[in-house]
Amino acid sequence: MKIRKVGVLGCGLMGSGIAEVAARAGYETVVREVSQEVVDKGLQKIQGSLGKAVEKGKLDAGERDATLARLSGVVGLDELADCDLVVEAIVENLDEKKKTFTALDEVVKKEAVFASNTSSLTITQMAMFTRRPDQFVGLHFFNPVPVMKLVEVVRTLLTSQEAYDTAFEFARSIGKEPIACRDNSGFVVNRLLVPYLLDAIRALEEGVGSVEDIDKGMQLGCGYPMGPFTLLDFVGLDTTYYIANIMFDEYHEKRFASPPLLKQMVQAGRLGKKSGRGFYEYGKK
Ligand code: CAA
Ligand code: NAD
Repeated sequence: MKIRKVGVLGCGLMGSGIAEVAARAGYETVVREVSQEVVDKGLQKIQGSLGKAVEKGKLDAGERDATLARLSGVVGLDELADCDLVVEAIVENLDEKKKTFTALDEVVKKEAVFASNTSSLTITQMAMFTRRPDQFVGLHFFNPVPVMKLVEVVRTLLTSQEAYDTAFEFARSIGKEPIACRDNSGFVVNRLLVPYLLDAIRALEEGVGSVEDIDKGMQLGCGYPMGPFTLLDFVGLDTTYYIANIMFDEYHEKRFASPPLLKQMVQAGRLGKKSGRGFYEYGKK
């Protein structure tokens, strides 16, 4: 199936990146948020990111303007009706995703492929909220989307070969490197990454080392680009907490259980970089 127009649900950390790379690759892109204020904030984030690319000489000003001309932000769902592919990147909460996909299914043309960028929910359960489970896949991007090359392309028992191929080719067409994954909570990367991040918090709770020293250990000892606490702040502690709870519910294994400190930090509003404070402090937000 030929994709011309892409819809993106959510213009937060991930949705803004997905909308940016889709528009940059030449697709007409419409991104939907919960209010005009959040739409405006999300579009500003994309403009900032494109601006940086121009400053660094990676994008010329003409390409930036053409990208922005292909991109629009909306609050209603109707503007997504003629999309060929819709990628959902809203909060990691099954009830919210259910409400969104049920409404979307009513509005968007029946041939369109739906994809979720979920970190930990299974694609099958979301596909079953719609009347097109055969045209439903996982497209799991990595943060920061404009930089990270990987996309996990996830098929369920019901995904048609045509929808799967369309999604796989889409990932390639926006300059990403797709890998094939079965529909298991956490797919490949989060199944391995999430226990590691949670274990770093447990090590901190047990006094094994400080935030800084554990980060330095993994950066200098293993060559990781970011230590686990920097990465946790970057991903968002709220999102990590939701992911841990979903994966624990799925597998009932201790390695996926949220450590008490993570829960307390979320309750205290320390959500990481996006709220100005997590394991580290960021500016004066
Ligand atoms: N948006 C766009 N571009 C960004 C960016 C952002 N948020 N952050 C950095 N970049 C770009 C920079 O502009 C820079 O580009 P140039 O090379 O053209 O200058 C490039 O990325 C490298 O950036 P820096 O030199 O400033 O910083 P760095 O070398 O420290 O790299 C990083 C930054 C790429 C983020 C690197 O630290 C990294 O790879 N960190 C690990 C990220 C990671 O593990 N992501 C996965 C998270 S888990 C997930 O996403 C799944 C889930 O479901 C939770
Ligand atoms: P975020 O909190 O930065 O953004 C979520 C956005 O969704 C918010 O701006 C919110 O206003 C919006 N939203 C909520 N309900 C909506 C609706 N019904 N319609 C449109 N927008 C709605 O979260 P995020 O980090 O971008 O995560 C989004 C999704 O991507 C989650 O499923 C998460 O698990 C997944 N994910 C996150 C990361 C990461 O590193 N943060 C990486 C890969 C995947």
